[in-house]
Amino acid sequence: MSARLRALDVRDRYLSRPPRADRLVPPRRLQFVGHSDFVETGEEFAGHLERLVGLRPSDAVLDVGCGIGRMARPLTRVLDPQAGGRYDGFDVNVDGIGWCRRRYRRHPHFRFRVADLFNARYNPGGTHTAADYRFPYPSGSFDVVLCTSVLTHLLEAEADHYLAEIARCLKPGGRVLATFFLLNDTSRTLIEDGVAHFPFLDAEEEVAILDEAMPEEAVAYADEWVFRTLRRHGLTLIGLHPGSWCGREEHLSFQDVIVAEREAYA
Ligand SMILES: C[S@@+](CC[C@H](N)C(=O)[O-])C[C@H]1O[C@@H](n2cnc3c(N)ncnc32)[C@H](O)[C@@H]1O
Repeated sequence: MSARLRALDVRDRYLSRPPRADRLVPPRRLQFVGHSDFVETGEEFAGHLERLVGLRPSDAVLDVGCGIGRMARPLTRVLDPQAGGRYDGFDVNVDGIGWCRRRYRRHPHFRFRVADLFNARYNPGGTHTAADYRFPYPSGSFDVVLCTSVLTHLLEAEADHYLAEIARCLKPGGRVLATFFLLNDTSRTLIEDGVAHFPFLDAEEEVAILDEAMPEEAVAYADEWVFRTLRRHGLTLIGLHPGSWCGREEHLSFQDVIVAEREAYA
């Protein structure tokens, strides 16, 4: 464990910075979900959920690959258990889920589960494969599904299956907000020009990776692959907001954000 992160945690504690004051912000040494600011990124996506998805206090929310509660934290202000609002999150990381279970005891409408699945980057000791994992929730039980920076770590068969499961778990008319690295003319040109922060290898392919030694480090999908897969699983694309990962100047977030709606069941 990094001595630098430990030292920063001690400093946070003595200065009573928000990480100390806020029980739902993990100490820096336990944060494994990326280098961006934990609180700012969570707040950013809570805003996207309200503006792009129309999140309401009465919604049932599923957070696929919820990590250590970065997205859950701001939702404690929004979801109202009296109105039926609730949150379920699952992840392959046992420590993140354990920490959330302890810290969210005062929010019993927030529930966290471990999924014992293999991911070379996040859970190399996992037993089962994500490509046929049935999410542990009944069909049609959520108004909103959130999947941030997770499909970007799943290989093709897994990402395809996760989109099918997301569709299954959504109510008709329910919405998913998911992030991707989308390959299209713009991002491919920027990668070729050497300005992309994530220079994917073989970006002309439908599926591209960043690091041959660890494919799950980052996976990019052609936008056509995503559009086709959403349609095949009964999800209609209703919003696409390009990100800055490829060096694009106008962007909503770092990754590309898509919003899709569950069609009525056939
Ligand atoms: C970059 S982190 C993002 C976490 C969280 N969504 C957020 O935005 O804070 C990627 C997460 O995906 C999780 N993960 C990896 N493979 C998974 C899988 N097959 N099913 C669920 N979660 C997975 C990792 O454990 C990690 O928490």
